[in-house]
Amino acid sequence: MSEGVQTSPVFTPRVFSGIQPSGGLTLGNYLGAMKRFAEMQDHGFETIYCMVDMHAITVWQDPDALRRQTRELAAGYIASGIDPNRSILFNQSQVPEHAQLAWVFNCVARMGWMKRMTQWKDKAGKNQENASLGLFAYPALMAADILVYHATHVPVGEDQKQHLELTRDIAAKFNHDYRTEFFPMTEPVIEGAATRVMSLRDGSKKMSKSDPSDASRINLTDDADSIAQKIRKARTDPEALPSEADGLEDRPEARNLVNIYAALAEQSVEDVLRDVGGKPFSEFKPMLADLAVEKLAPISTEMGRLMQAPEEIDAILSSGAERARSIAAPILKRTYDIVGMVG
Ligand code: AMP
Ligand code: TRP
Repeated sequence: MSEGVQTSPVFTPRVFSGIQPSGGLTLGNYLGAMKRFAEMQDHGFETIYCMVDMHAITVWQDPDALRRQTRELAAGYIASGIDPNRSILFNQSQVPEHAQLAWVFNCVARMGWMKRMTQWKDKAGKNQENASLGLFAYPALMAADILVYHATHVPVGEDQKQHLELTRDIAAKFNHDYRTEFFPMTEPVIEGAATRVMSLRDGSKKMSKSDPSDASRINLTDDADSIAQKIRKARTDPEALPSEADGLEDRPEARNLVNIYAALAEQSVEDVLRDVGGKPFSEFKPMLADLAVEKLAPISTEMGRLMQAPEEIDAILSSGAERARSIAAPILKRTYDIVGMVG
């Protein structure tokens, strides 16, 4: 082993994930992310969850709206079962080590890697010349979010898979260039029936807060009536439900509704189909609506209550940031040493 090579450190399991406070949490965020974040906490992992406000400003955010959305997202996390005593919950900009490590990673990542990111291509669209530099560098900041804690596991929805591969590429290149094994190879955790919740209007599109049609999504703040109405109007095909998962192939809308049901009921798709196979949508939709209201109404009530107490939220976030910094600062310091920065 040549000089400067570190022996492989053992990385203890540590979970990190983040959501952008860019407005409007959907059922996709809940099932694909927050519900699973809470489950990992409940399984006893060390869990760190972040509101990535610095990622949010890679596209324009009105300052007052950003403040409100950050607190609303914090309320959403807590209402979904994240306990600020058992998990570390904070906003990214309060922990400057994220931006500091991101700069180092900007110098590790290659332009070609960034250009291949589908989220960059989608968000910058045809007008790449006019997109912010931050939007282009977004995945390097995301890698820093994760690696500044030496996080080993990152629960996310399907759409973030490519960014996590890039995180591993950055860690591997850093380790290789500096002849170290300092950064772990983080594992994405993309599991469950609802890692890709689709639009209620079009089974080929992801359910998204940015879809112009409000009927395409269920918002975590929707009341019982609008949840039921959106499910009643959800697009489907004329066939009855199949009894086995194979029968959902080429039926994206049917598959989406069954996946949502399974994730909310905490059952497998097979178990759900065993019960509902053969039923027409006119029977299945009211069952789904009842289940969605039963599971989501307490979340929106609790979010509403927390939003009445912004000072309580702010106190939780600043204590979370302090705890996060106590982990991130020594890892950043060690990174600077490895890179050769004096200080
Ligand atoms: P974003 O709102 O884009 O910051 O996403 C926050 C988290 O929610 C990420 O882990 C996403 O993968 C997840 N997510 C967003 N939309 C969906 C969806 N339609 N289905 C499943 N997961 C989603
Ligand atoms: N890019 C993620 C999204 O849009 C948000 C995010 C930022 C994130 N940093 C992260 C997710 C670190 C997981 C880990 O959903």
